[in-house]
Formats: sequence, C-alpha cells, structure tokens
Amino acid sequence: MANTDWRNQTSITNFILLGFGNVLELQILLFLVFLVIYIMTMSRNILIVVLVVADQHFHTPMYFFLGNLSCLETCYTSTILPRMLGSFLTGDRAIPFSGCITQYYSFVFLASTECYLLAAMSYDRCLAICKPLHYAALMNSRSCLWLTAESWISGFLSGIVSTLSMCQLIFCGPNEIDHFFCDFVPMMKLTCSDIHLMKVLASTLFLIFSLIPFLLTVTSYIYIILTILSIPSTTGRKKAFSTCSSHLIVVTLFYGTITVVYMFPATHRLKDLSKVFSDFFTVLTPMVNPLIYSLRNKEVKEAMRKALKKYITFQSSKIGVFLG
Ligand SMILES: *[C@@H]1O[C@H](CO)[C@@H](O)[C@H](O)[C@H]1NC(C)=O
Repeated sequence: MANTDWRNQTSITNFILLGFGNVLELQILLFLVFLVIYIMTMSRNILIVVLVVADQHFHTPMYFFLGNLSCLETCYTSTILPRMLGSFLTGDRAIPFSGCITQYYSFVFLASTECYLLAAMSYDRCLAICKPLHYAALMNSRSCLWLTAESWISGFLSGIVSTLSMCQLIFCGPNEIDHFFCDFVPMMKLTCSDIHLMKVLASTLFLIFSLIPFLLTVTSYIYIILTILSIPSTTGRKKAFSTCSSHLIVVTLFYGTITVVYMFPATHRLKDLSKVFSDFFTVLTPMVNPLIYSLRNKEVKEAMRKALKKYITFQSSKIGVFLG
C-alpha cells in the first residue's frame, strides 16, 4: 500500500553531492590541493605499471601484483577525483542518477578487488618467506594469473550485486548527498524504500568481500611473523622482514582507512572534520602506495632513476638534433 504511494511520486533524477560546502575561497584552495593529489597519484601509479610491464627485472609475482594494484588505484582515483575537481571549479554539484550509480558501482568493484588483491599479495609474501625453497614452484605464472583473476572477478561480482540492489531502491527526495561521492551510507539515508533487506545484503557482501580477505591477510601475516621470529640471526630476520614491510604498510593503511571511514560513524560535532579526514584517506592511500614501494625498495628506486635518466638523455638528444 505504502509502496504504491511512493511509486506514484516522481522519483528524483539528479543528486546533489554536497562535498565540502560552498565557500568560494575554499573551493579554489581545495581544487588546487586535489589537483596536485590527482596528478601525483596518476603519474606515480602509471609509472609503476609501465616499469612492471616494460622492465624484465620486474617480471616476478610480487611485481605483477603490484602492477595490478597500481592499475587498480589509477582507476579508483579516477572514479572519484575528476568529478570532484570539476565541481570545485564550476560549482555545479549535481550528478545524474545514472552517474551516481556508475560511481557507486566502480567504487564497490575496485574496493572489493583491492581487498582480495592485498590478500593475494600477502599470500605471495607468506610463501616467499615461509616456504622459500618451494616458492618458485608454488607461485608459478598460473597461480599468479589465477589469484589476480579471482580478485578482479570477486570485485566485479560484489559491484554487480550491490549496484543491482541499489537500483531497486526508490529515491523520492530530498536529493542532497552529504558526501563527496556516491557511497553506500549517505545514499541509504536518502531512500524512501525499506532498507532492512538492503542492510542485511550489505552486511553479507561486506563479510564475503572485505572480512574474508582481511582474515586471509591477517593469517598470512601471522605465519610470516612466526617464521621471522624463528630465524636465529638478526640479519636474517631483518632481511626476511624487509621483503614484506612495504606490503605490510600498504595493508595497514588500507584497512586503517576503511576502519576510520566506516566503523566510526561521524558524530554531529565532528562531522565536517570526519568528512575531510575520510576524504583525505580515501584519496591519499592510492597516492602513497607507489611511494611506499619505491622508497622502501632499492630495485624500484633504481629502475625509476634509470628510466628518468633514459628519458632525459632522449630529450636532450632530441634537442641536440634540433639545435645542430
Ligand atoms: C596483472 O597480473 C597478471 C597476472 O599475474 C599479469 O599478467 C599482468 O601483467 C598484471 N598487470 C600489470 C599491469 O602488472
């Protein structure tokens, strides 16, 4: 009965993403800050993908996964930031319903893929440290391919299921999303359908696509830590730890972000602060991941230096030809 009443109302076709409010000076500042973040994230991640694909030294499982992770984060940043930059610049904060759903789908798809990819990477590190003699045989190109494919497929499934169920909901206004992109919680606040079932579904999806990979990651790290502790020499321990430290930092950052953004619901007084925080965390993680890998890793640092040198020599030889 009530259901038909809702259907009779005109459902809304546009959402307004409130973002950070409407202060003009702030918009320009935010535009510049997020533009720099966007450029840095894209260039670093694309550089990693190019290095991993082009450089023979990086044709190992760990770097294949890293390449996939960087590829994923390029897409992830691009689903959120360009639209945000546009709205800072033009002041137009409306997003059509279809745009919102697309953004939601991409976000869920990429976030779930990242959970499983991080789990695959920790399994890879676990084998490298706990079973060094069998590592090459166990982590062959087939298992690499399988683990990456499985990550992308589970992300795809998670995205499809949650988006299709989101499409079943009716939005009859208000249409102002108090967030900077179309995310689950802010959209749930706006629907006039019964969200009981949706909540159950969302919890189930969260369990399958975030909690399970998280537990797998933790299990891998428990094995890694036990193995490292059983190494008698300090140098041996340090060496073993250094092969997984970058990944451990990336994992901690990723799940730390999820916890901060989703587990602590914003209290009213701290709402704006928490919005800024969650925004920074969501867009900063993809920016710092390649940095962590390149700073803590001699091979990556060296390859980047070489690539840069090659590029500069190439450029200057072009200038040389031009001049002489
Ligand atoms: C992603 O992983 C697959 C399978 O391991 C690999 O073939 C591919 O090159 C990787 N992609 C990148 C960009 O590293």
